[in-house]
This record gives sequence, C-alpha cells and structure tokens, in this order.
Amino acid sequence: MKLNLPTTLAACAALLPGASATIFYAGVAESSGEFGAWSPTAQVGTGLPGRFGVDYAFISNSGVDIMADKHKVNLFRVAFLLERMCPLSYGLGAKFNETHFDHFKESIDYITKKKGAYAILDPHNYMRYNNPSSQPFSGSVIGNSSDPTAATTAQFGAFWGELAKRFADNEKVIFGLMNEPHDMPSSLNLANLQAAIDGIRKTGAKNLIITPGNSWSGGHYWTKGGAEANSNWIQKLVDPLKNLAVDIHEYLDEDFSGGHLACTQEPAKNLAGVTAWLKENKLKAFITEFGGSNTTACVTMLNDMLDYMSNNEEYIGWTAWAAGPFWGPNSPCCTDQKQYGSLEPGSKAADGGPSLYDTIWLPVISKKVPAKLQWSGPASVNGGELTSR
Ligand SMILES: *[C@@H]1O[C@H](CO)[C@@H](O)[C@H](O)[C@H]1NC(C)=O
Ligand SMILES: *[C@@H]1O[C@H](CO)[C@@H](O)[C@H](O)[C@H]1NC(C)=O
Ligand SMILES: *[C@@H]1O[C@H](CO)[C@@H](O)[C@H](O)[C@H]1NC(C)=O
Repeated sequence: MKLNLPTTLAACAALLPGASATIFYAGVAESSGEFGAWSPTAQVGTGLPGRFGVDYAFISNSGVDIMADKHKVNLFRVAFLLERMCPLSYGLGAKFNETHFDHFKESIDYITKKKGAYAILDPHNYMRYNNPSSQPFSGSVIGNSSDPTAATTAQFGAFWGELAKRFADNEKVIFGLMNEPHDMPSSLNLANLQAAIDGIRKTGAKNLIITPGNSWSGGHYWTKGGAEANSNWIQKLVDPLKNLAVDIHEYLDEDFSGGHLACTQEPAKNLAGVTAWLKENKLKAFITEFGGSNTTACVTMLNDMLDYMSNNEEYIGWTAWAAGPFWGPNSPCCTDQKQYGSLEPGSKAADGGPSLYDTIWLPVISKKVPAKLQWSGPASVNGGELTSR
C-alpha cells in the first residue's frame, strides 16, 4: 500500500471524534419539472397541465449521464408539481394523470435503473395544493380546515400512499415528503407529514423517507421560532420502520434565501443548533438544497459546508441546488437575478460565458463528491456499502 500524506492524515482523523462520519449519497437537485406554471398576474391554472418537453421536463438524460459517469454522483432530487400529478379536476389523492406519471417514472427509472444512482421524489409544493401560479405563496395550505378549497391531510396521505405503491419495488427511490413547508402551524405540518408516512408504510413500501420541517426547512432556523420551532415537532414523527431522515435546506446569503450573490452566513455556526438537535434525537439528515456563487467568500463557505457535512455523522447525504434541463441562462440561485446559467452540464451564462456549472460545480462542489458512495442496495438511514465507481 502506498502511503501518502493525505492517507496518513486520514488515518489520524479516524481517531478523532466524529470521524466515523460518512456521506452515503451526494449529487444535485434536478429542477425543471415544476416549471411553466408561474403567472405574473397569479392567474389560477397557468401552465396546467403544461406540455411535457415544452413547458417543463424532469431531467436531461445527457446531463444525468455526465453527473453520474464523470462526476460519480449517486443522488438526484427530481422536482414535480402536485397539480400535474393530480390535476385539479381529480383533486389531490390516489388518482393520477397517468401520462404525466409515465413521464416522471421514465426519468426516475433512467436515474435509478440505467445509471444505478438514487433518486429523491420531490413534490415541489411548499405544502400547498391547487394554485402554483405564484409559488411559493399561492395555493391553499394542505389540511387548512378553515379553507373549503384546501386539500385535506387525508388526501395528502392518500397521494403519498399511491406514489409509494408505484415505487415500492425500487429500493433506490427515496420519498421526499414535501419541498419547503412554510407559513403554517407546525402542528398542521406535523399532521400532514405523519399522514404521508402512514400512507406510505400502509402500502408495505420500505423506502427511505426524508421529511422537511416548517419555515422552509431552514437549518439555521430549526431550533428558532419558540413553540413553533421544528425542534419541538419533527422528532415526534413516527416511522414504524425507522427509515426516516430529515431534509434540511441551507443557503449562505444574508437572508438564507439563495437569491443573493454574496455569502455572509457561516454554515458551521448556523447549522450547530440543528446538528445538536439531530444528535440528541438520534436522527440523520440530508441537505437537499444549498448553493452559492463563485465569490471568494461563497467558495470558502461552500467548502466549509461540504466539509461540515463530511465531518458530522448526522449528515448522510446532499444535493446541490440546482441542475435541470430548463434553466437555460437563468440561475437557480445565488446571482442577484443575473443570468449565469445553472449546474446543468453544458449550461452557459446569457453572454455565452461560464455558467455555475463551470465556476461552482466543476472547481468547488464536484471536488467534494466522496470517492466512495453507496451504489447498491436499498437507500437507508443507516447507509449501505461504500464503493468507488
Ligand atoms: C394529463 O397529462 C397530459 C400530458 O401532460 C395532458 O395532455 C393531459 O391534458 C393531462 N390530463 C389532465 C386531466 O390534466
Ligand atoms: C387557512 O384558510 C383561512 C381561510 O381562507 C385563511 O384565512 C388562513 O390564513 C389559512 N391558513 C393558512 C395557514 O394558510
Ligand atoms: C466568477 O464567474 C464569472 C463568470 O460567471 C467570472 O467572470 C469571474 O471571474 C469569476 N470570479 C472568480 C472569483 O472566479
């Protein structure tokens, strides 16, 4: 065995506390499946059902190829809209638009069967259903009993039961219960999430489930907000199979929105509270949204964040925000609205210059994809065998 400096350092690090920390799953969010439904005048029904391949698409196979084959990532988080899977005329529940579902399944199968990677199903709905025209604020909060037009908690459970049944035979599929619930009572968030878990487990599906928190699932805010704090609620979720992890989002700009170019929010400091809570409750977590621009401060903080996850055993996976076939020159985060493209391989800025794929993914994030990840066996809160690819 050739001993070089890094191996020696790694051997020493193995003796330090927290050194058993392992990332099992790493990759990118695939955002485009939720596209095409936004309206500047909040016109209800805009972009529904939408044209697959024109208004929205889930992945580009070639982009996934580059991510999986060249960058050796094993995790993709694939966004979709509840209003397309369950058209408004059907309502939220177990009746799906089969054409839409088939397109979605084709993408999930490509990732999991063709590439052998893992896929998170991501209903990108902010715990709302019926009007995505002005997301993230439009639409009725699921389970709001004061709103006669709102889908019910039971309907959300039925929806997840049906989706779970359809993917129960694919151990590489991870169920992401909801993207970024916000501005709702934490008790209702908990009730909805529990209904989803119950709906899933009732079908016999054993897949790994990841649960968001209220307040946009923000890591920095997890223990804040008094009685409403996620740290008072999310550990109450019961999964009879104990195959449940927490889904955290964390951006590095001043307001944690991921909208700004400048990074000012130290990840290690801001994640300390949620990490302590995870430890106390013996929970594991994924950070499924994070990002930054290519300023010197952002590059430092992105590296710090990726190192922080590698060094703390509570973190088992991550997906950077975001790749996706429909971004074009637009940026998914961190540019003050400037068009610097996305993490999608081949993406370019509006002026034809380098994209976030060139300036952030290649030199920064891709360098932190662990050499060994899990490539076989069920997605699990305990991880699986680590191999290189
Ligand atoms: C189902 O999806 C297809 C394909 O996107 C679309 O053409 C059709 O109108 C949708 N049906 C409903 C009821 O939304
Ligand atoms: C629930 O619906 C009522 C009636 O439309 C509304 O006033 C209230 O803000 C809603 N609650 C939430 C959390 O959205
Ligand atoms: C950041 O990326 C832009 C292109 O988007 C480039 O012009 C600039 O030089 C880069 N800055 C640094 C610090 O690398």
